Amino acid sequence: MANEQTGSNNNEEIERVWWKEAVVYQIYPRSFKDSNGDGIGDLRGIISKLDYIESLGVDVVWLNPIFSSPNDDNGYDISDYQGIMNEFGTMADFDELLKGLHSRGIKLILDLVVNHSSDEHRWFRESRSSRDNPYRNFYHWWPAEKGKPANRFSFFDVNNDAWKYDDRTNSYYLHYFSQKQPDLNWENPHLRNEIYRMMRFWLDKGIDGFRMDVIPFISKDTSYPPIPEQYHNDYARYYSEGPFLHKYLKEMNREVLCRYDIMTIAEGIGVNNETALNFVDPERRELNMLYHFDTLGIGLLPFEFKAPDPNGYNLIDLKDVFTRWDYTYAEKGWGTVYLANHDNPRMLTRWGNDSEEFREVSSKLLTTFLLTMRGTPYYYMGDEIGMSNIKFDSIEDYQDIETRNMYLHIHRTGGDTNRFIENQKITARDNSRTPFQWDNTDNAGFTQNGTTWLKVNKNYNKVNASSQEKDPGSILNYFRKLIKYRKSDLTLIYGTYTLIDRENPNVYAYKRQLDDEVLLVVLNFKPHESTVSLPDIDLSSAKLIISNYEDMKGRYDKLRPYEALIYAL
Ligand code: GLC
Ligand code: CA
Repeated sequence: MANEQTGSNNNEEIERVWWKEAVVYQIYPRSFKDSNGDGIGDLRGIISKLDYIESLGVDVVWLNPIFSSPNDDNGYDISDYQGIMNEFGTMADFDELLKGLHSRGIKLILDLVVNHSSDEHRWFRESRSSRDNPYRNFYHWWPAEKGKPANRFSFFDVNNDAWKYDDRTNSYYLHYFSQKQPDLNWENPHLRNEIYRMMRFWLDKGIDGFRMDVIPFISKDTSYPPIPEQYHNDYARYYSEGPFLHKYLKEMNREVLCRYDIMTIAEGIGVNNETALNFVDPERRELNMLYHFDTLGIGLLPFEFKAPDPNGYNLIDLKDVFTRWDYTYAEKGWGTVYLANHDNPRMLTRWGNDSEEFREVSSKLLTTFLLTMRGTPYYYMGDEIGMSNIKFDSIEDYQDIETRNMYLHIHRTGGDTNRFIENQKITARDNSRTPFQWDNTDNAGFTQNGTTWLKVNKNYNKVNASSQEKDPGSILNYFRKLIKYRKSDLTLIYGTYTLIDRENPNVYAYKRQLDDEVLLVVLNFKPHESTVSLPDIDLSSAKLIISNYEDMKGRYDKLRPYEALIYAL
């Protein structure tokens, strides 16, 4: 029965919820499929691939922002929340896409980016025009005659400075991200009402929920006191503890979310195990899920921007993070599981092994992991075919504002830009944003004749969807098989999770259990043979049901490189 750490596992108590059973597939529209030859992915491109998406067996698509935007941060700087980005198509295309997904039984969630807008949004143009404009308080302003306000760190600013002086009104405005992403003032009820109205517009069209961009940052102490010392190495933590955050989320739930059968997920930047339930405890009526950032620092060196440790990462650290988060939701709330997205490098390069020898088997290992943990999996497009980091040699190849501005910052402050470029080969966001590799024709079949907005990974001849379609043993077909398997067995969704052999530096092993059914998952995360210790487990009747080696000859006491095994006990 239930124990303290793993919570209840009694089948009768299960209240089935669709978003707990869903597999979410994330599409970065700019990079999925170009329909008109301008080298930029678009909505009609996605429409042309609906059958592919359906064939994966996923339940929900999360689309990164598709709204009007000058693209300072690839759509995360929105100039019209109810318009479609010109490069992506029209509202008619959107309606067709939504219909096409729904007719295939797939739900759609959109990105809600409301901590900030674009500086080209009408609200900001009004706001900056004069101090007494009705939209002035839609943003955070500080009059310059009071001197410069207390320091705020900006993630994308070349000088790390989140206050930008604007001479039109002799004032500073706040931007946690780029200068073209001014922060919206949630303390203003008129702003909040505008946001809720806009959310209803999309929900009334029939979308199935929102992924909420940096939502923990929306509330600010508008007296802007100096940031206390203890947060100086973790600004995200300070930003995510705004005074009225949960008041606003409750209000949003009351005014909008509770009226629809939808799913909501917070990008949980700055949120930790102690604060997570404040967002997702169902009794609080705020949001459904949150994704945390605790794996991001694993295997990176301290005090340097996204610098990988040459010795790789410690698997025990990874186990500890996932295990701690599973326990966080043991009694209430619901977790999420992911290894990559558009803000992270490719999971294969970061957590697996992108060498020719191990690409396939380690991709399958990571897929096994994602689809056998408790929590809703968020699977990033292209990982199902084993796409890997592009590893650009030159700053010129990068498009991402984070990389470009950090490069400038390091250059101006006399840092080592060569080292930065080496580090970015492993950690840069553009690694996961390269065009999807559909086939082995020019530009990987992503575009007909355009130059692609970001270079295509040269390995597309070997790594592409079309060649994997035909191969029953491909990474792609393994992903499909695992999704089917997850759906066929509620133990993988609602069953408890128990970590086994924690100190093992090579193997991640765990049990999933629901009533009498017990599954054992054994994953060798290393390119060499490994063993695992399973002292308290009765393996006498263990039956191997899934393996990423086709011979199905796996042995838990002698795991081959990157071998993944699932047993029914
Ligand atoms: C989130 C998005 C990221 C974006 C940032 C600013 O972290 O996922 O892509 O750059 O917010 O909107
Ligand atoms: Ca296009």
